[in-house]
Amino acid sequence: MDNIQIRKYREEDAAAVKEIFTMGMSEHVPASFMHLLKQPPAQMLLMCLFCALITSSKSFLLPVLAVTLLLAAARQFVVYMFNRYIDTSLRKDLNQIGETYLKGKDSCFWVAECDGCVVGSVACLPAEKAPECLELKRMSVRRSHRGMGIAKALCRTVASFTRDRGYAAVVLYTSVVQTDAQKLYEHMGYQKTREFVAPELAAKILNFTLFEYRLDLHRD
Ligand SMILES: CC(C)(COP(=O)(O)OP(=O)(O)OC[C@H]1O[C@@H](n2cnc3c(N)ncnc32)[C@H](O)[C@@H]1OP(=O)(O)O)[C@@H](O)C(=O)NCCC(=O)NCCS
Repeated sequence: MDNIQIRKYREEDAAAVKEIFTMGMSEHVPASFMHLLKQPPAQMLLMCLFCALITSSKSFLLPVLAVTLLLAAARQFVVYMFNRYIDTSLRKDLNQIGETYLKGKDSCFWVAECDGCVVGSVACLPAEKAPECLELKRMSVRRSHRGMGIAKALCRTVASFTRDRGYAAVVLYTSVVQTDAQKLYEHMGYQKTREFVAPELAAKILNFTLFEYRLDLHRD
């Protein structure tokens, strides 16, 4: 961590931040696809399709082909969902970080810099549903720089900013497939406060559970 510095975002960091966020999200596609395959309705559909085609066509090749095609389509659907989430995030805040995070006194965006390169990011802003909390967002660390304690340092930066602004807690949302993030937040003292499936139809099909975590800050 000696050569790593956590500092406030500058406009010249924009491309690196967007790349780190996009790569960090895209890497969850394989785990999300596996998650989909583990769902009983998905297994039932594949089984029924296979059995129906094998009995009606008396051929082995056709059902194998159909199941393969269905799996490929399902994977494309997961890729599409992640790309849509990435596009929405870019549109909502990551294309205008200065405007979204650096104008108000209760929000901020930081990057982790290593040897002059941006290797991680995190942000926070007032939580929509909990006025006493700031929400931690956009946590991501470049793959080549993982396991060095960068995310822990970014978490601490958000906690101390939140405490200094007089808020009672930090909240954040992560998902069932982001297992490294879950370990990180639990390691940093966050408590899981809620589990729910996102309201979108696609999330319901995937049974894509979101977790809400909270870190209560004790003022001394
Ligand atoms: C989650 C993420 C930010 C962690 O970054 P990192 O810099 O590697 O994390 P750190 O080195 O600071 O590790 C912090 C702690 O998290 C846990 N952790 C992180 N990665 C882990 C892994 N692969 N296996 C087990 N524990 C892990 C450990 O408890 C670790 O502490 P320890 O090393 O003292 O045991 C990183 O994996 C990432 O960017 N993932 C993709 C984007 C993402 O999912 N972001 C979360 C959005 S909610």
